[in-house]
Amino acid sequence: MDLRNASILLTGAGSGIGHALALRLAEHTPRLTLVGRRQQPLDELADRVREQGAQAHVVTADLTEPGAPETVVASARAEFGGVDVLVNNAGNVRAGRLEVIEESEVVAQIALNLTAPILLTRAALPSLRESDRGLVINISSGIGLIAMPFYATYAATKAGIAHFGEALRRELYGEGVHVLTVYPGATSTPMMESSKAGVEEGFEYESPEAVADATVEAIRNGSLNVIRGGQQRSDMIATNREDPASVDRMLGERKALLETAVEGHSSM
Ligand SMILES: NC(=O)c1ccc[n+]([C@@H]2O[C@H](COP(=O)([O-])OP(=O)(O)OC[C@H]3O[C@@H](n4cnc5c(N)ncnc54)[C@H](OP(=O)(O)O)[C@@H]3O)[C@@H](O)[C@H]2O)c1
Repeated sequence: MDLRNASILLTGAGSGIGHALALRLAEHTPRLTLVGRRQQPLDELADRVREQGAQAHVVTADLTEPGAPETVVASARAEFGGVDVLVNNAGNVRAGRLEVIEESEVVAQIALNLTAPILLTRAALPSLRESDRGLVINISSGIGLIAMPFYATYAATKAGIAHFGEALRRELYGEGVHVLTVYPGATSTPMMESSKAGVEEGFEYESPEAVADATVEAIRNGSLNVIRGGQQRSDMIATNREDPASVDRMLGERKALLETAVEGHSSM
């Protein structure tokens, strides 16, 4: 896909993967609508995007508020006349044993990681259909493919958004709107600052720029999925499909270590 002048609505643009993706996309001179709750990081990003010759429009919104998805899409339409690409990137996490997590934290993860992108996509579909390059990009997670202990709710939302995207891609097959799903592995962003999980617990980190580069390449190639984590991740996905009990045993051996490392992991 040619991204020149494309109207791209990107959620969670103020930090991490969204921030890196905005800057990588800006190299292709699109028109970017940058969404998040905090104004300042979005304004600073908008300046950098404009320095690269792309256009930027900042929208501050809490995407979990009733009516916010429709308002955000309407703002992008009013500014740029339509939406060609929607990137559902904003997300949150709260790790820990299910009994320990507050009910409000369960609900907040589902609201931002699953309900908001579904409603945003629904609100954007008329515009995406009008476009000659309609595309939805959902940022899932490696945990959406291989569910990890102490991430039960997060895993449910990330598997949910992945299946939402797959179903929608098939629903829209031949109708001019494509869906791409991105499954980042552990990525060095503000979301991971409160996690103590490292290589010993099976978390190898990469930069948000690497995820952004792979995503832009996938957009340009028309790919269906971006799965980060290299051969090791591919092997584990295959094992998890063919012999999930062996993955249970492997994770079971690291369980105590993992629990201690992630019990304070929260981006809320
Ligand atoms: N980092 C990883 O290791 C990793 C791995 C796999 C998948 N992912 C996924 O990648 C995506 C980006 O995560 P990240 O690591 O870049 O995290 P991040 O730096 O915490 O970014 C999340 C962004 O979402 C925005 N946001 C949070 N709550 C929001 C709300 N209610 N309404 C609107 N915007 C909201 C935040 O901005 P404001 O606070 O200003 O609203 C922030 O810019 C997420 O979907 C995450 O699940 C991350």
